[in-house]
Formats: sequence, C-alpha cells, structure tokens
Amino acid sequence: MCGIVAYLGERDAYHVVLKGLKRLEYRGYDSAGIAISADDQLKLFKKKGNVSDLESFIEGKDLSGGAAIGHTRWATHGEPTDNNAHPHLSSDGSLAIIHNGIIENYSSIKQELINKGHVFKSDTDSEVAIHFIEDIQKNNHCALDEAVRIALTKIVGAYAIVIADKHDPDLLIAARKGSPLVIGVGKGEYFLASDATPIVEYTNEVVYLNDYEIAVLRKSGMILKNIEDVQTNPYVQTIDLELDAIEKGGYKHFMLKEIFEQPKSIQDALRGRLNAAKGDLALGGIRDYVNRIVSADRIIILACGTSWHAGLVAEYFFEDWCRVPVEVEYASEFRYRNPIVREGDVIIAISQSGETADTLAAIELAKAKGGIIFGVVNAVGSSIARATHVGAYIHAGPEIGVASTKAFTSQVTVLSMIAMIVAYKKGTISQTRYHELLAELETIPSKVEKALELSEESEKIARMFSDATNFLYLGRGYNFPVALEGALKLKEISYIHAEGYPAAEMKHGPIALIDEEMPVVFIATRDSSYDKIVSNIQEVKARKGKVIAIVTEGDVLIPKIADYVIEVPVTNEALMPLVSVIPLQLLSYYIADIRGCNVDQPRNLAKSVTVE
Ligand code: G6P
Repeated sequence: MCGIVAYLGERDAYHVVLKGLKRLEYRGYDSAGIAISADDQLKLFKKKGNVSDLESFIEGKDLSGGAAIGHTRWATHGEPTDNNAHPHLSSDGSLAIIHNGIIENYSSIKQELINKGHVFKSDTDSEVAIHFIEDIQKNNHCALDEAVRIALTKIVGAYAIVIADKHDPDLLIAARKGSPLVIGVGKGEYFLASDATPIVEYTNEVVYLNDYEIAVLRKSGMILKNIEDVQTNPYVQTIDLELDAIEKGGYKHFMLKEIFEQPKSIQDALRGRLNAAKGDLALGGIRDYVNRIVSADRIIILACGTSWHAGLVAEYFFEDWCRVPVEVEYASEFRYRNPIVREGDVIIAISQSGETADTLAAIELAKAKGGIIFGVVNAVGSSIARATHVGAYIHAGPEIGVASTKAFTSQVTVLSMIAMIVAYKKGTISQTRYHELLAELETIPSKVEKALELSEESEKIARMFSDATNFLYLGRGYNFPVALEGALKLKEISYIHAEGYPAAEMKHGPIALIDEEMPVVFIATRDSSYDKIVSNIQEVKARKGKVIAIVTEGDVLIPKIADYVIEVPVTNEALMPLVSVIPLQLLSYYIADIRGCNVDQPRNLAKSVTVE
C-alpha cells in the first residue's frame, strides 16, 4: 500500500516523480503529494484525492528542482486529508520524508518528542519518523545518514522511506525494511520507487534494496550500508520490463486490457515449460526440489485474496492427481494461529505482488518452523520471491488493475503444472491421463481466446443487472473456487454485495435470500457434478430467482431452464476454472463500468497490501 517515487539528477524532477506517481497509483489513491528540494527550500504540495487532483492543485506553481520525492497514499494512520498526505516535514521544515509501511512503536516515540516540545501537524506515524530523525541529528550533531541509521535502530515496524534535505539538494537518503523499494541507476541520476514501473522508461539497471539497508544517493554516486553501519556493495540487476506492458494500449481500463491479455499471459506461463507433443513438462525453478513435494505428507498453501482462490483450485489438483492432503490457509489466520508445521510438510505461497505483508509473515513463520517454502509469484525480485526457498514465476507481466484477473489464471496454470509433474513422478495418475492433461493444458490459451470472443454476451447481461444490489455465485467441485472469485471480482469493483458459495450449501442459508430480484450466477459447465448443479438451478428457479449460467458449448439442457447463458469451450474438468472464470471477470468489469465505478482503482482497496 502507498506508492513512493523519488528522483535525483539533471532532469525536471517534478515531472519524473509525477509520472511515476501515476504509474504507482494502483498502490493507493486517497491522497498524494510531492516535495521538491531546490534553492535552500522544500517546495511542498499535497492534497487529498488522487494524483490528478494533486496535478491540478499544483498547476502554475514553481516546480523547478533536480531532487523530488512523491507519495500516493492508502491511509493506515489518520484519515485521508491534506495534512495526513505525504511528504511530511521535520519540525524546522528542513527535512521531508515519504514512507510506505507502518511504524508500530510510533506512539511512544511521538510522546517523547511531544515532551521535548515537538508539534505535529498530522496523525501519521511517518511524520513522527522525520521529527525523530531531525531530533537525533540535532542532539548528536551528526550527518543526516547517520541520524537516519540511529533512528532505524529504534524504529519497530515496516518501512520504505526516502528523505530529502533542503540544505543539500544533491542528496536523497532511502531505507527499507519490509516494504519494497527499488533504485533505478542512470548516468548521474537515480530513480527510486516502490516497484520498477516508474523507472523502466529511463533505465533497466536497478538495485533492489534489502531489509535494513540504507542508500545514500548523490548525483556522483551511491553508498549502501546496513543499520549496523557496515557498507555493502550494490548489486545492480538488469530488468526485463517493456514500457507497453505498463500502459493501457487502447483499452478503456487496465482491467479490461489484462482480461484480454490472458491468452498471451497463460501462454507465457507455459512457454519453455510445456511441450505436450514431446511429453515434456518442466519448471526449471523447482526442478531440484520437486521430490520434496513428491514425498510430502501434506501441502499447506498460503495466500490472500484472489491468490487464495487460485490456491483453492490447486487443492483440487493436488488431492485429485497427487493424492496428498492439502490445506489452503489465509496467510493472515495462519500466522496468528500457532499453526502446526511438521517435517514432511511442504508450503506453497502464492502472491501476485510478492509483497503482501500477511503472506510474507506467514512464510517467515513456516520457515522458522522448519518448512520448505515454494513460491508462485508474479513480481520478479519481490520480497516473497526472495523469501521462499524455491519457486516458479507465473510470468503474467505487470498487473495494474487492482482487481486481479490475469494473475489468477497464470497462478492456476503454474500450479496445475506443478501438480502434474508431482502426480507423474508419484505415479498417482496414469501415463494416459498425464499426457491428456498436458495436451489439454496446451489448448487453454486458444480456449480462453474463444471465451473472450463472447465478451458481448457478458456485456449484455451486465446491462440487465447493473442495478442489482445482491448477487449469488454458485459452483461445485473445481468451479466452486471460481464462484468465490466471481463474487469477489463483482464486489471489489462494482460495490454490489456478492457471495460465492458451494452450490449444494445454498440450501443451508443463501436460499432464504432468493426471490425474483436476486441474480444467481451458476458456473455449470459439463463435469462430474453436472446433474447435481442442474438440480440446484431448478431449486433457484422454483423460488423465482434470476439464473445466469456459465455453460459448456453445446449444452442444450441448461439454456432451457436458465434465464441467461454464456457458453465457454469444452475442456477437462480440472482445467475448466481457467476458462469459466473469463465470463465472470467480464461480467463484473462491465457491471462496474456501467455503474460508473472507478474500475482500476476501487475505493478503499489497494493492489499491494503491505500492511497486515
Ligand atoms: C489485494 C489485491 C488482490 C490480491 C490480494 C493478494 O487485496 O487487491 O487483488 O488478490 O491483495 O495479493 P497478492 O499480491 O499477494 O496476490
């Protein structure tokens, strides 16, 4: 949560930072601000609202300067207001800070500073940090980087910070623990950001700051040290990220672009890993550890949000094909439950952003209990990718829309490959079934393409139901997690209350809600529970509910009972979630768009949840 961007160099720092904030707006968008260090002053502009509100507010002001820091906020401490927006200034106004994370012991530090006469303008933990640093600098008569270092030895919590000093416009100081921070290295210039998207148009050379590292940046060079004051060597990596991947490319919203990208993103997840004709399936990243899953007594899957739904689909893969028990855990519950991790357990952590605080903490806990951790992550070089012992990237490319779409299908794709490899090695599926699954998986990108060709159907149905106040999503077996995902997509972006349920469980509660006003979405593709779900549809129709059914191409029965149907191509029952989720993503997208909602930046949500 919160995006931070900073620049130091010969360019117009304001424009670099403003553009960067627009790219990072998916991380938070309740207030934004920029501070420019020039001519012995800090020009500070901040505003409640999104980055465009800030831009209009700033128009016409003097924005010159070669060092700037900027922030787009997702509130944790203090409501979204102009005062609580970052950057925050120190007591005498000579230092400015941007911060992503949470300082847990801020109230005791704040009290100490208040006793010394400090006055605070905001309710944030971040303002406390910059007052604290200034206080240390004044008392110890030390350089700013030393004051930052001392402060960080006392601060408890998570942070990615960047500090500017009005008396030294050729200086930026950055540090991280727990929250992400990337430094782009140019010629005589540095770019800092929460992820690489604001940086790639200028340079592809980056340094990922490690926890407890402090970077002292001047146009002439960078010094890295840790909080024990030991210098470290910056590890400069080259990243492979194209500018087009982070732009809308003619689509109205990132979410729509990302939905339509799925044939390609799934193909990218398969590329170099699957060759069905040759019977080849290999994931280089996990090759040396795959026997750990083969011999696992149990698999524990850790994730949050949509990634948790991908984990639920994987539960069916591993139990069905590999005959190993699986528990799919919300990372936030697992970490606080004193969970049992036994020798012989394998943990799979799933995360799009690779930065979700609860998932990261759950991984650390499982590691401390001796678990071996596999990562299924999208963001290359992210904290979770680095915290896991071994992993397979999903290669979906940057996902900017806050509602996750292509990451879900790529996660399911990668998890299906892991399960197929394990099942084959364990001998828990026949050779014939294994080869059938490989061949079927290879056809998924074209089947997703076909499902997307019917986007108009979803749009038509969206028009009928855009005023609904409640929705129910029902599915069985492999389509049950799809029902949960469909409901989550709708409530996230359209603010319509939606619940996902196993279709059979409907009788134990949700059936009481059904009347002629209630749209019920059935994911009712032809599979082993087809007859049962047909009965569930009849039960809803008997109570006058409006049924929207996702059915397999050529189905003649359900179209006679349901009010509306959307067809998807035939595929193997286990791989159906990759196809059946497509019309649900489209339905929620179109409903949200028709309702005039901010599809890419839904209220109160953030793409990367770096607070617990
Ligand atoms: C947030 C996002 C969701 C995402 C979840 C888990 O809530 O809005 O789209 O599914 O975090 O994030 P992760 O990056 O770990 O997959």
